[in-house]
Amino acid sequence: MGLFSLKKKKTESGGTKPPLRHIAFIMDGNGRWAKKRGLPREMGHKAGAEAFRRIVECCIDRDIELVTVYAFSTENWKRPQSEVDGIMKLFVEYLHDGLENPRQKNSKIRFLGDNSRFSPEIRELMERIVEKSSHYPHALNIAINYGGRDDIVYAVNSLIAEGKTEITEEDISSHLYTSGQPDPDLIVRTGGEWRLSNFLTWQSTYSELFFTNTLWPDMSDKDVDEALEFFTSRQRRFGQVK
Ligand code: FPP
Repeated sequence: MGLFSLKKKKTESGGTKPPLRHIAFIMDGNGRWAKKRGLPREMGHKAGAEAFRRIVECCIDRDIELVTVYAFSTENWKRPQSEVDGIMKLFVEYLHDGLENPRQKNSKIRFLGDNSRFSPEIRELMERIVEKSSHYPHALNIAINYGGRDDIVYAVNSLIAEGKTEITEEDISSHLYTSGQPDPDLIVRTGGEWRLSNFLTWQSTYSELFFTNTLWPDMSDKDVDEALEFFTSRQRRFGQVK
């Protein structure tokens, strides 16, 4: 099968289907992947980081404009310290790798979430990679220390700081961490759970949702194509009658 075409498609009734611009992933199942192999959870996250690189490249190959991954939630700090340290170590490795080894398939990076919890050294690496990647055509959001509710609170506080006394939906959208970006057309969650876990709470109102039992480290191009097939089979009405 050739690469998936996500451009506007003619439907049977002669209309066109909107293309998929933004795909988001909840990368779940790293711990179970490791457990199945008798390995420590940290090894599951290591395999998860490799899958993350692979799947972002797969989305670039399919010419998807924007990919968002949920790397670490505001709640994930409650995990054992050794696991948190392991994920942060992988994150720092990813930042160094991105800064030192330019790849053919690169993306313009944006971080979603409250970065005040990170050390000044990590924040500096984050700023450098955002700047260094700013010219790439495809975009990647890494949600790290991210929570959907925190995103909304942050937006509202920014509006208060601007002196607003009455706000619109557009005001909130334009003050979220995703400001200026399209909402996700499709959210994919691996690992067999059917929930959004505080991910893109405001932005997901009309997203199509795809849940798969595949554990994140096993996620393949074929699984991505399956999710894209599902997306093209959906009729998106956005609350209207078509
Ligand atoms: C959820 O699986 C996964 C996470 C909380 C961490 C995701 C992190 C990565 C994929 C790697 C690092 C990211 C970067 C940016 C390099 P889980 O641990 O909850 O799995 P389980 O439900 O099987 O226990």
